[in-house]
Amino acid sequence: MIPRPQLFSDLSASSVLTSGVTVSGDLVDPVRTALAGLDPLPGDSGEIDVRRDPALGEEAYRLTTGSRGVEIVAGGPAGAFYAAQSLRQLLPPASFRFSAGASWPIPGVRIEDAPRFAWRGLHLDVARHFFPKREILRLIDLMALHKLNRLHLHLVDDQGWRVESPAYPLLHEVSSHRPRTATNFHREPESYDDLPHGGYYTLDDLAEMGAYARSRHVTIVPEIDVPGHASAILAAYPAFGVTGEPYDVLDRWGISPAILSPLPPTVEFLTTIFDEIIGALGETPFVHIGGDEVVLDHWAESAEIGAYRDSLGLESVNDLQAWFLRRLADALAERGARAVVWDEAFVSGRLRQDTVVMPWRGMGVGRRAAAAGHDVVATPVFPLYFDYAESSSPDEPMAIGDATTVEDVAAFEPAPADWTEEERARVLGVQAQLWTERVPDARTVDYRLWPRACALAEVAWSGTASPGFDGRLTEHLARLDALGVEYRPAAGPHPWQRRRPHRPGRVPVTEVMARIDAMTYDAESTRPSL
Ligand code: ACM
Repeated sequence: MIPRPQLFSDLSASSVLTSGVTVSGDLVDPVRTALAGLDPLPGDSGEIDVRRDPALGEEAYRLTTGSRGVEIVAGGPAGAFYAAQSLRQLLPPASFRFSAGASWPIPGVRIEDAPRFAWRGLHLDVARHFFPKREILRLIDLMALHKLNRLHLHLVDDQGWRVESPAYPLLHEVSSHRPRTATNFHREPESYDDLPHGGYYTLDDLAEMGAYARSRHVTIVPEIDVPGHASAILAAYPAFGVTGEPYDVLDRWGISPAILSPLPPTVEFLTTIFDEIIGALGETPFVHIGGDEVVLDHWAESAEIGAYRDSLGLESVNDLQAWFLRRLADALAERGARAVVWDEAFVSGRLRQDTVVMPWRGMGVGRRAAAAGHDVVATPVFPLYFDYAESSSPDEPMAIGDATTVEDVAAFEPAPADWTEEERARVLGVQAQLWTERVPDARTVDYRLWPRACALAEVAWSGTASPGFDGRLTEHLARLDALGVEYRPAAGPHPWQRRRPHRPGRVPVTEVMARIDAMTYDAESTRPSL
């Protein structure tokens, strides 16, 4: 099974699970949702019996299968859901296919299980390339199978805005598409595909995605990345910028100087957007507000913003950025949501104490955030940026750099042993990022995510990849085959998965990380440090 349960023992007596199986007890619904392919029915004395034990953690469960049927004891709905996910993985891989009137053997086992980390996340950049609602619902199902529970959607960047806005309709009308997209590799002469690209989620889509995710114990974490990465917003509403100059939705990659103004109308605009998104998604405990790669030059050059900064008694544009993000985090707190930020925002300072920090530039800055008392979700480029190729081969589809293998992910330690106990206790969990500059479609999403996200799931649930991971992964791939997941085969891509050839060795991920590690985190600069 993936992720591997804490305790797993074989029992001698096996049984059979048949389509139309009855489920009884305290927590029927989550089990029926997880086993939907078996058309489970509620019943008074079911073949699957689910009891709640408040002594267990919300996500913890015990699962016993044998001649007396299936017994689940769970701490709460999430635990019952995960017990049923484990039960699914006890059935043959063919059970992951639709088949009417199915009947599957279940081996006798006893499992006791609970997650090591509360935040078991995947990030998907739907701004650089848009992935429609159906892909998000499918991804939520795949996450649930792997007991992953946070889906971080990067909803805006220079290259696109991805949500309907009744209050600011030019966002979905103008900011949501671009006429063409860059196809060149890193720092090569620019080339373009001359194909329009775009799309956005309506508020009805968001509502559906939020409800679908909740029923699968996945929390959607929407990201409105500000104040940088603002070309798409400014293409629609240049008045929220600094210079008033016209902008286009960007058709190429890299860090742009487009930045929102920190003045009150921008804060009002963003809080209206928060209200729209939270109102649609439903219960939203976390909202990511970005704070990464901000070029502050326009703020430094503006007399109006300088005067505003002086009026606030702030010394530098960095202080002003910190103040701006703090105001947004306060507005989110009023709406019942905790802010999440990339690590630059921690370096700028002044975060609310309850703001969650994602250290993408490495675990060094993550440790500093943890030592300062912030909850941290481990997100370092290596090995958790899945836009890096899986191997250094030109057969790989074009990636930003190379290489991050399944083994690299499996070896990752979200709460390093050499941190203090207090620092380790601040690690909420771990999350992989899929930036999509070079991920143009859903088939390539499958390739880049799987099976590296299987290793992520194991680390997130168990704290570390457990013994026998390789063998279990080989068995697990048969489940992904049955589900139609176009994962990367261990031997390398199928011919049709090669696409535009990768350029091996041009951006080695280990060199990128060494460069970041050697960096001083300079809160005075007006330029991003990577
Ligand atoms: C990031 O990679 N700029 C978060």
